Amino acid sequence: MPTPQEILEALRGVKYPGYTRDIVSFGMVKDIQVSSSGTAVHLAPSTAQEDVVQQIEEAVRAAVTGMPGVAVPVTVVRDPAPQPQARRGPQPIPGVDTVLAVASGKGGVGKSTVATNLALALVTLGKRTGLLDADVYGPSVPLMLGIDEKARPAEGGRLVPAEKHGLRVISMGMFLGDETPVIWRGPMVTKLITEFLRNVEWGDLDVLVLDLPPGTGDVQLTLTQQVKITGGVIVTTPQEVALADVRRGIAMFEQMKAPVLGLIENMSYHVCPGCGARADIFAHGGGARVAAESGVPLLGEIPLVRAVREAGDRGIPLVAAEPSHPASRAFREAADRILVRLAVARDAVAEREGLDVLT
Ligand SMILES: Nc1ncnc2c1ncn2[C@@H]1O[C@H](COP(=O)(O)OP(=O)(O)O)[C@@H](O)[C@H]1O
Ligand SMILES: [Mg+2]
Repeated sequence: MPTPQEILEALRGVKYPGYTRDIVSFGMVKDIQVSSSGTAVHLAPSTAQEDVVQQIEEAVRAAVTGMPGVAVPVTVVRDPAPQPQARRGPQPIPGVDTVLAVASGKGGVGKSTVATNLALALVTLGKRTGLLDADVYGPSVPLMLGIDEKARPAEGGRLVPAEKHGLRVISMGMFLGDETPVIWRGPMVTKLITEFLRNVEWGDLDVLVLDLPPGTGDVQLTLTQQVKITGGVIVTTPQEVALADVRRGIAMFEQMKAPVLGLIENMSYHVCPGCGARADIFAHGGGARVAAESGVPLLGEIPLVRAVREAGDRGIPLVAAEPSHPASRAFREAADRILVRLAVARDAVAEREGLDVLT
């Protein structure tokens, strides 16, 4: 009686219809079972057309049946296709339609300010929005939004986000005492982010905004492995707008398998609080230049205004405190552009994966 290995060798003689390669090298043979009561060859599910698959099955049956001493009957089994949920790798968050990651090459460029105001702008544009302050090393979102409560566990140990100005928020800051120094080691960060992503009762969201820590590190790596990022934006300032910085941001998102939606230039120009005149105290326009050079669009230019900082310090971000302020308008315009690009990115992902976007 031929062994499974011998049968496998024999199946190397079966060519994939239309190809010079055989079905074994194509990885179509998944298993071979031999017993006194018969021989079974398991074939991987194939995306090929039904008649092609039937042709292969017949060829397999003929090849095996023709072997001397083979146990009969010879059956060819087509294994069922794995369920999509069983797929490994980044997963969508249940109830969350799109995930927008906000990143920067380095700290202090106003990333958290931009992420928070953008999230609030999305709320004013009618989107159900969540903000996850994933900057475990410097969570500034609770201060900016005036959140002094600690995280509340709901039934089943899930976490309830705080709600401010219609925005649902979870931050590492909600788990710490104000005086606690934040010193995390990689594995702790990984565990924490996993907890954040999986155990927060977000409800249904159109957009979940992630305020990433600056640079590339454990958190970004964890996020890559855990969650499908629909798109990313990179925050820069004119004085540090260097192609290298933006390229690093782009490379990071590429590693995260997330499309870069564009750049936001923060503290782009100064608006005189007295006369309203605009002054380019830094070399304004660097964002546009870098955007053109790196091939990603410039999604917005946010002015440097004291009101942005003061509103943040007061715990009511400018977009909520003064919706008619020019800087608030700049945030809303950027949010509007982001929404368009997020929708495109989401549909592209859905198409790639053959999912039905309508479900
Ligand atoms: N457009 C702006 N105009 C004025 N101040 C700003 C602006 N953006 C950010 N800031 C201020 O800059 C400081 C750093 O901002 P933050 O958002 O914490 O940066 P990051 O998250 O990149 O470290 C804060 O004091 C913030 O209020
Ligand atoms: Mg920050």
